[in-house]
Amino acid sequence: GPLHDLLVDLPKVEHHMHLEGSLEPNLLLELAKRNNIELPKDDDAFSSVESLLARYSRFTSLDDFLHYYFIGMTTLITESDFESLAYAYFQKAHSQRVVHAEVFFDPQAHTNRNVPYDTVLSGFKKAQARAKTDFGMTSELIVCLLRHIPPKDCHQAYLQALPDLQSGKISGLGLSSTEKGNHPSLFKESYDDAKKHGIKLTAHAGEEADVSYMASAVDDLGCTRIDHGIKLPQDPELLARFARDKILVTMCPLSNVELRCVKSISELPIRQYIDARVPFSINSDDPAYFGGYIQENYCAVQKAFNLTVEEWANIVTNSITLSWCNEERKDEML
Ligand code: ADE
Ligand code: ZN
Repeated sequence: GPLHDLLVDLPKVEHHMHLEGSLEPNLLLELAKRNNIELPKDDDAFSSVESLLARYSRFTSLDDFLHYYFIGMTTLITESDFESLAYAYFQKAHSQRVVHAEVFFDPQAHTNRNVPYDTVLSGFKKAQARAKTDFGMTSELIVCLLRHIPPKDCHQAYLQALPDLQSGKISGLGLSSTEKGNHPSLFKESYDDAKKHGIKLTAHAGEEADVSYMASAVDDLGCTRIDHGIKLPQDPELLARFARDKILVTMCPLSNVELRCVKSISELPIRQYIDARVPFSINSDDPAYFGGYIQENYCAVQKAFNLTVEEWANIVTNSITLSWCNEERKDEML
């Protein structure tokens, strides 16, 4: 379309991507070999890059994807594995004009298989420093609690990350993994403590589950940002509140289609959010698994909604002003 070049040139901010979700099939298989990790022998998907990609194109749900996501990341062992993973993402994001990225990681998925927390964090911190030096790209880490794991265990993982949340090595707390049945309110102990420390809060909500999960993330957990958040039209009062309080919804269009949360991008409430002034950004979620990075998500939204230049300018402005970087950095980007 006529806006394609503008969407390519636009400086972008990404708020919702999981570093472990940027593990491309070729790197996954290479790391498995190098680290002697046995991948499931009874699943042909792991036999080649092509068969992995073929399987990734047929996800039936969030849990169907998470099965592959958690197996894939078992190939990450050393600090340099984590650094390579994150640096490859920053490089790709830079090639799509991402100037600032706020990225999730799942320490429990690594500590649970005896990879030390410090190995994961130091690998990611090294990649962030290189991306700053090499590309001028700024980034912030957001630590996710895995909600399929009992809240008590998640709280221990939170406490392990707390010193780094307080020092600013990690910029915020998030909540990910299987949504249905794992209600936000179950994680109130961790979020209350984080709020007490002034830590920035977000949670995945309203992806597969209904809008009550979004209300709980805001009311029970104190989140100022919601990840996915595609169910707001189910609750017009809550929708008005998101607009009034400028609660950012970090949308992931290709992810929602790939995980069958919607049949097509045109079903997403993007027009409603623009009309009601609900701030949102457009993001890639798990780009190695869903067939596209941020640029492909921008283009898919444009194809479905044919937004105006002014509407895109507004999306990007909101993405900058509602970022979790400092005000000086926002001024540079605006
Ligand atoms: N972890 C990685 N991607 C996720 C998603 N789309 N929803 C919940 N948890 C995730
Ligand atoms: Zn996500």
